[in-house]
Amino acid sequence: MSDIADVTRGRLVFGGDYNPEQWPREVWREDVELMRRAGVNLVTVGVFSWARLEPTPGARDFGWLDEVLDLLHAGGIAVDLATPTASPPPWLGHRHPETLPVDADGRRLLYGSRNQFCPSSPIYRRHALSLATDLAERYGGHPALAMWHVDNELCEVCHCDVSAAHFRHWLRSRYGDDLAALNEAWHTVFWSQRYSDWAEIMPPRRAPYLINPAQQLDFRRFSSAALLECFEVQRDVLRAATPDIPITTNFLGLDAPLDYRALAEREDVVSHDWYPDPTNPAAHEMSGLGFDLMRSLAGGPWFLMEGATSAVNWRRRNAAKAPGQLRAESLHAVARGADAVCFFQWRASRAGAEKYHSGMVPHAGPDSRIFREVCELGAELAELHEVVDAEVECEAALVLDWDSWWAVRLDAHPTADIDVLGRLRGFHAALTRLGVAVDVVAPDADLSAYRLVIAPSLYLVTDDAAANLTSFVARGGTLVLGYFSGIVDEHDHIRLGGYPAPFREALGLRIEEFDPLPEGETVRCSSTLLGGFEARDWLEELRPEGAEVVAEVAEGRRAGRPVVLRHEFGTGTAWYVATEPDPTALAALTRQVCTDAGVTGVLDGLPAGVTATRRGRVLFVINHGPDPVSVELPACVDLLRGGRCAGRTELAGFGVLALVGE
Ligand code: GAL
Ligand code: ZN
Repeated sequence: MSDIADVTRGRLVFGGDYNPEQWPREVWREDVELMRRAGVNLVTVGVFSWARLEPTPGARDFGWLDEVLDLLHAGGIAVDLATPTASPPPWLGHRHPETLPVDADGRRLLYGSRNQFCPSSPIYRRHALSLATDLAERYGGHPALAMWHVDNELCEVCHCDVSAAHFRHWLRSRYGDDLAALNEAWHTVFWSQRYSDWAEIMPPRRAPYLINPAQQLDFRRFSSAALLECFEVQRDVLRAATPDIPITTNFLGLDAPLDYRALAEREDVVSHDWYPDPTNPAAHEMSGLGFDLMRSLAGGPWFLMEGATSAVNWRRRNAAKAPGQLRAESLHAVARGADAVCFFQWRASRAGAEKYHSGMVPHAGPDSRIFREVCELGAELAELHEVVDAEVECEAALVLDWDSWWAVRLDAHPTADIDVLGRLRGFHAALTRLGVAVDVVAPDADLSAYRLVIAPSLYLVTDDAAANLTSFVARGGTLVLGYFSGIVDEHDHIRLGGYPAPFREALGLRIEEFDPLPEGETVRCSSTLLGGFEARDWLEELRPEGAEVVAEVAEGRRAGRPVVLRHEFGTGTAWYVATEPDPTALAALTRQVCTDAGVTGVLDGLPAGVTATRRGRVLFVINHGPDPVSVELPACVDLLRGGRCAGRTELAGFGVLALVGE
């Protein structure tokens, strides 16, 4: 089977989306010349070119693409060829309105934008597959072809009648064709929702009041599965035509309606699109979490498939990146396992909805700061070939599960404000401050490689996953469980007998009531281990049953309530965090659990906004802020700028060091 190494071939990949169909032919030659100057070695071609390739139903216009691929190949630039199926041409929607998606209000969405298709539509799928098949046949043997890029940011969700039928079909297979099993799983005895025929079941469209949560959860699962199918049908055709060419599809940031783990298992290369807000001083925290997630999903190196060289066009105000910021953000991805740094897009569009989105070649042309920074980055990535394929070793893991994430976001809960990614980011940032590298794993993953596992938010848990985490502790691991975890089973049914039922024994406690705090309210807590701190968002009425109370509410009517507990279980330790501690207390707690678990970081005492990650033998130290900082370093040499450093070293704003021992 083919994999990422077939694309990287020993070097870091550098490039971007190339949309030559937006430009006259004369520009193509200059493009290739500039790509060479910038050190670009791979471009993604054709992402939104369906209407150009198939101008009328069944027609094929491949001539321009032949020419582009030949030109690129002559220039030594490899191609990640996309199937253009994320934006069907108007003729498809016009002739077959039933291929257009329908939202939860029953409104059909129109063409004139992109993403206008129903993932379940057999007509859409047939047209998409036919074009993908022809692309595979025509370009499968082209020497420029290095990778296939299926669709773009799969994320479409549809509530139409075709999707409804597909949903029923999916449910029949999930519930073994047993309607009673579905009625049981959805607990339809409540509010007289019992189904007497499969035909009665609908997607969760707008209804007078709260919609059955298990139905909503299954629809989430189904929508993800429908997108997986769209990917798989294309992948199978491409793979049959070109078994040696790796296949990817790019993830839409961190929050798409798609189980990324299920998709990652089905593709050869995991790729991620990521657009941090250049004005957010903490943006690197979420970037770091996302990059670690991608590496974990890939089980190794991954592709940063899209990012912006400077501004995007879709925030309310779209700031340009500061000088050096592009470099710091790009090398951050490399430090956390990316073997590719690519951008949307090569040349900024001159018209259309994204004309104010930055490109590698801006409107100003190559005589510009951005293009100079792009060229410098290309040159530096070429120097860093030794990290290609290198691993990031982790003794700690964070737990993220899509079912649980979807379930905790359902309505009518104790609080509507549980932010799963935010809770992961809190712990991730605290670990990062300690220089501790972290994977992001499934709750039922093999945890034997880790000493510390943190599950900040794991509302839904299967029996297997609960047993896995519990036995991790019993066998000597350190587990940290965040509040509102282990509450429901896979059908969103409460696990009875005191929360969190499957973890009570390991945690040595029992919760009777949830007691979320009003927005903005904090309570003072005290702890000998963590110091005094402010807690927000969540409290519980809980009773230790063997656990030691590490922190409790210090004042007010809730004084004495435990908020952090620690319990020896088997040969390991289980911590429970029943609130949202302030960042200082979270940092102290994280330091303590790392000590407990015997986990150490690559560099301690990092100033705020500085990260240190070891990949292979290279230690990347990155200043994510605009102001210079000083860091304490071991004696080493910077692979990027060549200088030696040892002891207190000044790191410029957005400065990056790629250090190896002397
Ligand atoms: C991505 C997309 C690109 C471009 C980019 C703009 O979501 O894949 O085609 O639209 O956003 O930031
Ligand atoms: Zn549909």
